[in-house]
This record gives sequence, C-alpha cells and structure tokens, in this order.
Amino acid sequence: MNYETVLAGLPDAVIAVDGALRIVFWNAAAEVLTGRSARRAQGRLVKELLPAGASLVNRLGETLATGESRSEAEGTIETADGRVVPVSLLTAPLFARDGSVEAAVAVLRDVSRIRQLEDEVRRGETLAAAGRMAVGLAHEIRNPLGAIRGAVQLLQRELGEDPRLSEYTEVLLKEVDRLNRIIEMLLDLGRPVQLRRAPLNLHQLLERVTLLHEEAARAQNVTFVRRYDPSLPPILADEDRLLQVFHNLVINALDAMTQGGRLTLATRVSMNPVYGKVDVGAGHRTMVEAQVADEGPGIPTAIRAKIFDPFFTTKDRGLGLGLALCHRILEEHQGAIRVESAEGRGTVVTCFLPIAR
Ligand SMILES: Nc1ncnc2c1ncn2[C@@H]1O[C@H](COP(=O)(O)OP(=O)(O)O)[C@@H](O)[C@H]1O
Ligand SMILES: [Mg+2]
Repeated sequence: MNYETVLAGLPDAVIAVDGALRIVFWNAAAEVLTGRSARRAQGRLVKELLPAGASLVNRLGETLATGESRSEAEGTIETADGRVVPVSLLTAPLFARDGSVEAAVAVLRDVSRIRQLEDEVRRGETLAAAGRMAVGLAHEIRNPLGAIRGAVQLLQRELGEDPRLSEYTEVLLKEVDRLNRIIEMLLDLGRPVQLRRAPLNLHQLLERVTLLHEEAARAQNVTFVRRYDPSLPPILADEDRLLQVFHNLVINALDAMTQGGRLTLATRVSMNPVYGKVDVGAGHRTMVEAQVADEGPGIPTAIRAKIFDPFFTTKDRGLGLGLALCHRILEEHQGAIRVESAEGRGTVVTCFLPIAR
C-alpha cells in the first residue's frame, strides 16, 4: 500500500502546498469538504481557490514563512458553492534536505456536526430551564384563570341577550382561552412527553392542518400548493404532536406572507440527513421529508442561529416558542428539522420523519 492510498482513505482533508502556496496535493476528503476536485485544485494557488484572509491561506503562509506549525480550532473554509463550513485545522512545515522550508501541509476536519450538536445541547439547556420555570408559573396561573373563566360564564348567563354586554364577555373568554393556550405551550416545553406513536398517513395529517388555516390563508391572498408524493409510505409518529408541528410551521409561513403568495406543502422519501455520521446514532437510512415553503421575506442571516431558541421572536405578539417546540417534537421522533432561507426569496422548513416499518 502506498502513502497516497492511506491519505485518500483519511476522513480528514489533507492539503499540501509548495513554497509558493501552489497546491501539490489534495486528498479525497478535501474534495468532499470543499466541493472541488483534486484535478481542478492541484497546480493552482490556494488563494485562487479561497478568499484572501481565509484561515487556510493565512496559516499555510505563516507555516511557510516561519517553519512552525499552526493550528486553529475555530476556522472556516468556503466551499465551491459558497457555503462556509466550520473546521479545525492544523498546518505543518515540510523541510528540504538543507533544512529550509520547502512545502507545507494542512489537515482540516469538518466540525459542523459537532457545532450543531453543541448548539442543540445549549438549546436543550435553555429549554429545560424555561420548562422548569414554566411548570411552576403555569400551576399558579392556571387556577385563577379557571376561576375567571367560570365567573365570566356565569356573568354571561346573568347578563342575558344584551349584545352590547355579551361583546365584552366574549372578549374576556377569548383572551382567557388565549392565556390558557400560552400556558399549555409552556407546559409542553417543560414536561417530558410520552409519544404515542402509530403508523400515520402524513398527507391526511397535512390536509387537516390546511383545513384549519384555509380561511386565514384566503383572507391574506395565500394559496396552498400541494406537492405530495403519491407513493409516500406511512410514517411512525404521534399524531397530536405532529399536528402541533405543522400547525406552527403553517402559521409562521402565513405570518411571513403578509403580501400573499404560495404556501407549498411537499412530501417525499429522502436520505436521513444524519445517517452514517460517526458521532450520531445511525437510525434508518431513509426517512420521509415534509416541507413547508413560503414566499415571504426570508429569515435574515443575522438571526438564523436564534430562531430555534425558546422565546426568540421578531413578532409583536409572538411568543417565540413555535420553532423550539417543533424542534423538540422532531427530536423526540428521532427526526430532524432544517430551515433554509434566502433573504427576499422565502423560507423552506424541512421535517424529517421516520417511516413506519
Ligand atoms: N417562515 C418564516 N419566515 C420568516 N421568518 C420566520 C419564519 N418562521 C420563523 N421565522 C422567524 O423565527 C422566529 C421564531 O419563530 P417561532 O419560534 O415560531 O416564534 P413566533 O412565531 O412566536 O415568533 C419568528 O419570530 C421569525 O422571526
Ligand atoms: Mg411561530
């Protein structure tokens, strides 16, 4: 076995440059990480492939100049299609016979999955803290709310038919119910839930959700577009919990489309996004994918990392619990949720769900 085969089989990207920062070696993992083939990379200058100031360019330059190793735990690399991938990187000098620095080699490791897990842990902690507080509060608030609701109903009966007065009691009841729903949502975040999973038809479930929002959508000039895969297998899920998920996603999409537009619901079978990754329980190779896509303004890059945080909202009357809850529910299903958004071109939320087998 030669060294090239060893390097080709390595999961870490290995890139070597000569004294002029020209690429002389680019292994298979480097191809995967950067989306650039060795054939196209070798022989070119690193700075032709990567923007000036990129971690890799700087560290290789320093290593060539000083003959010392450099490392960066929180570097990034830009891929051919413009994505920025977090990497940890290490460079080392290669010496010529006379002791001068002849070349340098860099080893890069994709840490995006680790970063994602770190984010999830952090989110989980905020959720747990929010949950504990919520449970305490909710019990205190629920009882007086129940009493208020009861009293309003009695009042309604006493006041009789007078439309002027019943308008007030209606408002009271509606707002008390809203408070109750908020409390239920807070409690949901706090308590560990027992999923009641059964095989379900996802399309029927999505149709139930659209039915709930048909009126609101029409009033806002939003049309539902369905792209259902007719051969979609049943999924294994808790019906009530999943209704909550799609209910929240459709509301977010409607909230985003104040100017009207198309709200697309799409389903298909696809690859499990975390299947086969070394650091995650593998699960099944294929999953069902359900997308809720809108034509709203999209999510500004600056807030994209926060949208799953409990209580993060940009809306006046928002609670910021919708996506946190969706995330939690999909996690409980061993599924996943991903958000893609291009500013000005709308948002696509993709849910991955297990197939009933
Ligand atoms: N489809 C979407 N289009 C644009 N922004 C969105 C969309 N979905 C979510 N967001 C952003 O994420 C934030 C958090 O969403 P969510 O957790 O559902 O809470 P809320 O809807 O109560 O604000 C929203 O306030 C909004 O800024
Ligand atoms: Mg919401």
